[in-house]
Amino acid sequence: MRSITRLMFMGTIVMATSIAAAAPPAIVTQGKGAAIACASCHGADGAGNAQAGFPVLAQLPPAHFAKQIADFKAGTRANPVMSPIAMAMSAEDIESSARHYAGQARPKAAAATADPAVIARGKQLAINGAWDRDLPPCFKCHAVDGLGVAPAFPPIAGQHAAYTVSQLQAWKTGARTNDPQTLMKTVAAKLTDDEIRAVADYLATIGTPGEGK
Ligand code: HEC
Ligand code: HEC
Repeated sequence: MRSITRLMFMGTIVMATSIAAAAPPAIVTQGKGAAIACASCHGADGAGNAQAGFPVLAQLPPAHFAKQIADFKAGTRANPVMSPIAMAMSAEDIESSARHYAGQARPKAAAATADPAVIARGKQLAINGAWDRDLPPCFKCHAVDGLGVAPAFPPIAGQHAAYTVSQLQAWKTGARTNDPQTLMKTVAAKLTDDEIRAVADYLATIGTPGEGK
């Protein structure tokens, strides 16, 4: 009898521990002062919001995630909404939110709304680049199917197209300067606006392993 009670007690502890591990940290669900709850824009599951331009955070490598917050703090990456939130985050907030979002399944890719010819053009650029213009394929750095290579190359598949467009444009115009060795500026500078649109549309339509809902 005693040992059964003991076993049940231990089972309760194990369950409580696994629930605690799965629950998002308070910074994600409640925020802290000027660090507005991440979930209110990015979702607790990190699916973001395509219309509002809030990026998918699910499965970002923690090192890349933490680098982005540090870059918003430093000003090498700037956004009127996200910069003040980053400024208000402590090292612990960054660590716990990065760990939480890295563990979420990447949302299922959006249905293709764009013209199939546009998608095909984007796919061509992502897989083959354009060597006649010294444009390397996106997947040379971001891995086959845009799944990313931790820690330095983020996944780009399944991201909202409008967000991908905004980042490529920010590198092209010089508004975003946080890429190591200007790797992304060099790429973005060689893309026309139509090509940026096409590659972003294509990336939004491809799924990733560990797809969520
Ligand atoms: C009010 C809406 C809003 C809230 C709240 C918010 N974000 Fe953001 N976040 C954004 C926007 C908008 C961007 C895109 C910024 C850009 O275009 O550079 C972004 C970008 C990011 C990025 C960069 C993603 C990437 O792929 O490079 C990270 C990381 C991030 N947010 C983390 C957080 C965390 C952690 C919190 C909670 C403490 C949070 N955000 C709260 C709107 C928000
Ligand atoms: C030579 C290597 C290289 C190539 C080729 C490359 N990228 Fe990148 N890309 C990077 C690196 C490194 C980063 C991370 C920059 C940082 O630290 O913020 C990045 C970041 C990005 C981001 C930001 C992701 C985010 O979460 O905010 C997007 C979008 C992106 N790349 C799209 C593309 C597309 C589209 C192509 C092809 C047209 C491409 N990249 C080709 C190296 C590359």
